[in-house]
Amino acid sequence: MGRPGGGRCLGCKEQDAVIDLARHRTRYCGECFVDHIRTQVRVAIDAYGMLRYDDEILVAVSGGKDSLALWDILLDMGYNASGLYLGLGIGGYSSRSERIVRDYAERRGVRLHVEDLAEEYGFDIPDSVKHPRRSDKKKKNGVGRAACGTCGLSKRYVFNKTALRHGYDVMATGHNLDDEAAQLFGNVLRWQTEFMARQSPMLPASEGGLARKVKPLYRLTEREMAAYCIIKGLDYVVEECPLVEGNTVMRYKDALNELERAAPGTKAHFLFGFLDRVRDEHFDQDEHFGTSLVPCDDCGLPTPAHQPGQTPVCAFCRTRGRLLQLVDRPARSDASDDEHPERTPEQTSEQTTEQDVTA
Ligand code: AMP
Ligand code: FES
Ligand code: ZN
Repeated sequence: MGRPGGGRCLGCKEQDAVIDLARHRTRYCGECFVDHIRTQVRVAIDAYGMLRYDDEILVAVSGGKDSLALWDILLDMGYNASGLYLGLGIGGYSSRSERIVRDYAERRGVRLHVEDLAEEYGFDIPDSVKHPRRSDKKKKNGVGRAACGTCGLSKRYVFNKTALRHGYDVMATGHNLDDEAAQLFGNVLRWQTEFMARQSPMLPASEGGLARKVKPLYRLTEREMAAYCIIKGLDYVVEECPLVEGNTVMRYKDALNELERAAPGTKAHFLFGFLDRVRDEHFDQDEHFGTSLVPCDDCGLPTPAHQPGQTPVCAFCRTRGRLLQLVDRPARSDASDDEHPERTPEQTSEQTTEQDVTA
């Protein structure tokens, strides 16, 4: 964690400091640092009215530091938070991640849903690398990018579907300040104003069937989340996904870190300035959220209305349809099937796995 300058914690002024936070011009001992993390999450939740204490929250937990820390923080703060792990089929990386998430859920005695892309939908992320679209094959890094694209699409789809199916009020992810600043940076570089309008730590539920989505860690950096896990003794997957190497977001993160080193606080100014002063003032939310949603013809989940006369099929079902024609692996059930009975109250009370639930 580093302790340049060392010295006493500037919170309690009693213990030795274990971490320096240049952006906040302070340093903390372990206890005060954990308080600082909870305070930042509290500020985030209150600023956007993200969560209420009677909400049923579904936290998407990848096994990495951010989402495990988020789950831990929300549980410690007294929220009702269950976990969702999605198996992406990325060899040892996926199996180690799943083990860590299961162990954490067991230790805390909390409910965990485990979904598996290959089992439920008949394809996994390595399949999208083996069978890229022709247009992706022609692009530099196109195949790797296709994996991340399919991965992001699948996560959003399964998270939303699981939240809706089980009646969760809200879906929480572990996106942190570095993730959000990098995302904004990329959107600004290409002036993707539609994405900029949608970039928010909270997206409300839509009537068509999209669950409310929140990012309570948007005020905290990757380094702070790693330090939190170490201080709290949380075991997390340290390795990065083997497929993301060299992806564009990583390059944006590196560039922002370079700027941050020279001027601590740059990332936070960039992101918070946008959220507090630019987004609402300069982007007409109705214009961007006004797109009407219609049910997907395959799975029934909402998708933007298509051209008149065109059958509306959501992006996930289209990608899945394409891959299923190429992949030689039977899906255990159709994405639109709902052949599995609801679980009994005993099954839902404590830690459970949900490999039998698809819709
Ligand atoms: P990423 O898209 O990998 O940057 O992850 C962003 C967030 O999505 C994480 O902080 C988690 O909340 C969630 N997430 C990513 N991968 C998974 C997964 N395999 N299962 C459940 N949640 C995940
Ligand atoms: Fe999505 Fe690696 S976790 S491509
Ligand atoms: Zn669909």
